[in-house]
Amino acid sequence: MDTESFQLDPKDVERKINKNTKAIIPVHMMGQPCDMENIMAIAKKYNLKVIEDACQAHLSVYQGKTIGTIGDAGCFSFQSSKTIACGEGGGIVSNDEKLMDDCYTVQNHGTNRHGQSVTIGSKYRMNELEGAILLAQLEGAKERFETRNRNAAYLTSKLKDFPGLKPQKLYAGTESGSFYLYTMSYDKKHFNDAPRDNFLKAINAEGIGFSPYLKNGLHREPWTDHILTLDSYKKMYSPERLKQFKDDLYLPKCDEVCENMVMLWASGPLLAGQSDMDDIINAIMKVYENRDKLNSI
Ligand SMILES: Cc1ncc(COP(=O)(O)O)c(C=O)c1O
Repeated sequence: MDTESFQLDPKDVERKINKNTKAIIPVHMMGQPCDMENIMAIAKKYNLKVIEDACQAHLSVYQGKTIGTIGDAGCFSFQSSKTIACGEGGGIVSNDEKLMDDCYTVQNHGTNRHGQSVTIGSKYRMNELEGAILLAQLEGAKERFETRNRNAAYLTSKLKDFPGLKPQKLYAGTESGSFYLYTMSYDKKHFNDAPRDNFLKAINAEGIGFSPYLKNGLHREPWTDHILTLDSYKKMYSPERLKQFKDDLYLPKCDEVCENMVMLWASGPLLAGQSDMDDIINAIMKVYENRDKLNSI
């Protein structure tokens, strides 16, 4: 993981490739593009597929290409928090017609486009009402996307020389990001060593809705222990492989990022006007100027 961009680190990806590796799944965190140039080069070198998790990244553009269209397939989420949403739903895009047919079949309880039940699959069909809700959002989606980009660029320019909060790093080649979330790393040494939560309390009291993002990485969730107790896993994998799985879940960079991240919901606040962005910056600076009191709140 790249702790400045919060994205997959291509060098780490290459180190982790083994004889079982079939595909790379870059997750465009917060809606901003991963380092796709290097990821695609690695995929080519090792003959791997690339499945883009563009669930947060509607309309982002990298080196002239829309995110989700660079790899072999791109996946989008329209779940309720997303910048284009219909409650629950999603989409897959690809130029590979056979793959798209297979995706259709699997989400259609294993029945293909010709009505033949050819495999197993769950029923994930989106209904027309959800489709209509999505289509109605398309008209203003681009404008909202541009507003988020403009406001994000403004906030980032204002934080440029401020060491206490470092905005998410964007890779060269990023022409725009979805800014599903606007995220920063909190550096407590510039805030009198106060824990992030104290900073959040103080800035929330100023009316600014900053919050943590994910409390923990998935590797810290109870399922990682639970699956090791399942007979099906014990049948599929050797004890050594299961131990390896657990050992591999030592992810200090992910822990560090979760612990220090501060976020602003972009689909709401980042659609506001420039004076609202000034309010955010002024609140940050007010908390910073009063950092000597942060440890006692
Ligand atoms: C990066 C990412 N991947 C995958 C998903 C899963 O999408 P869904 O909730 O539509 O299944 C989400 C969000 O929900 C997400 O943010």
